[in-house]
Amino acid sequence: MQWHDLGPVEEFQKAPVTEARVGRTLLAVTWKDGAFGAVSGVCNHAGGPLGQGRLDGDFIQCPWHGYKFHRLTGEGEPGFEDDKVPRHDVKVEHGHLYVTAEPITPRRKKPHAPHPLARTPVRKEGPIRVVGISTTNMDPANPRYSTSEALLEIALEHSRTTLACETRIIRLRDLKFRACEGYYSKNAHACTWPCSITEMDDADEMTEVYEALIHWSDVALVATPIRWGAASSLFFKMAERLNCVQNQITIKDRVLIRNKVAAFIVTGGQDNVQAVAGHLLLFFSELGFDFPQFPFVAHSRGWSAEDMEKNVEYVMRSEELRTGAMELAGRAVDAARQLVDRGRIVDRTARGGRKAHHIELRAR
Ligand code: FES
Repeated sequence: MQWHDLGPVEEFQKAPVTEARVGRTLLAVTWKDGAFGAVSGVCNHAGGPLGQGRLDGDFIQCPWHGYKFHRLTGEGEPGFEDDKVPRHDVKVEHGHLYVTAEPITPRRKKPHAPHPLARTPVRKEGPIRVVGISTTNMDPANPRYSTSEALLEIALEHSRTTLACETRIIRLRDLKFRACEGYYSKNAHACTWPCSITEMDDADEMTEVYEALIHWSDVALVATPIRWGAASSLFFKMAERLNCVQNQITIKDRVLIRNKVAAFIVTGGQDNVQAVAGHLLLFFSELGFDFPQFPFVAHSRGWSAEDMEKNVEYVMRSEELRTGAMELAGRAVDAARQLVDRGRIVDRTARGGRKAHHIELRAR
């Protein structure tokens, strides 16, 4: 057995968990109740740095998503003992801490059924499918008229009855889903697909949005009010949770959204249509969506229009907006048909595509 000198023991008595390295092997060295322990510093879940975690009793809690492994045996927390990270032997000699260069026990990953969302997106045969996402918030017990949602419903109705599409509507306010907890800010690889929250929390209902956008729809019609010059807070809550979709491109060159079209409905009592629409276009383009010509309809009566009830009246009466919503649906569905019919997938990686896009922009 080959022993490796990690250095003076005092260095490892300063904190309950210390990250150490033996050659290319990362270790999580622990110090508790007068005893050292050493296990692999690489978490079984998504490779998180266990050596940067903290102790919960005798378990090291991974700093990325909180999975726990016993500091001495490497076993997963109770209920997950079949999952195990490698254990290294330790000894103290002449004031120095030594670990075995090779692990004493192997890594064991209990086969877990993949999350249903993790399947490869494959378009099922059938009519064009349109999902409408309303990002309007309101008290469900006392509903009110939402101009953006009303136009979205008109667009969906038109898609169903005239354009022969399948449709569904998701009202974000009806879903109970957690805000993004910022795993990406720890490390790009900590932001996983499916989302770490989705994997860990069966009750989280963002699954409905993921399922519709990634696996079901050809067209996403997204409706938002303007709130202080920006899209609604529910839109941003959803957008932050969609970071994991874009992040697959960043870390794996894996494009989950292909041959899909997004279009937008933006209405507000006050102005900033261009900024809101611009933001939506940027965000959905980074997810991988295509756009129809003239990809949004919008309405605002301007900064000084504080008489909000008149907006509702205006939108309710406006034949132009009604027609505009239907035509938007028509353009989006046409674009989706072309993408689906042509099966237009250029075999390119997203990163290549994005690079080319940025180079093209620079060249202009
Ligand atoms: S809990 Fe360790 S990587 Fe997810």
